[in-house]
Amino acid sequence: MAASIPSLTLLVGKLGELPVGAVVTVNPTGLAPISVFHTEEGLFAIDDTCTHQDASLADGWVEGCTVECPLHESCFDLRTGAASGPPAKRAVRTHRVEVRGDDIVLTPSTDS
Ligand code: FES
Repeated sequence: MAASIPSLTLLVGKLGELPVGAVVTVNPTGLAPISVFHTEEGLFAIDDTCTHQDASLADGWVEGCTVECPLHESCFDLRTGAASGPPAKRAVRTHRVEVRGDDIVLTPSTDS
């Protein structure tokens, strides 16, 4: 039986400090950078690095629940991580993010 790995939760910040349209990037120890986007549809967390090359998606453009990579313009669905088209072919990993009181709490996924 595989040992269960306790999930790590991180305090990203206060909801009042991340208005709609804002994004914040965190660097959990041992994991790739994760960006939390506050959209009209709510909060979404994805791996910050584009799956095509080494671009920060936090530097991209957000429209609805989509972020466009600033380097070669592939788009990613913030809800699922799915890439809409080339040059990126792979989805970015998504992570659980929730609001507890006024705290934004991130639970990074370790799924590959
Ligand atoms: S680095 Fe993101 S599409 Fe190329």
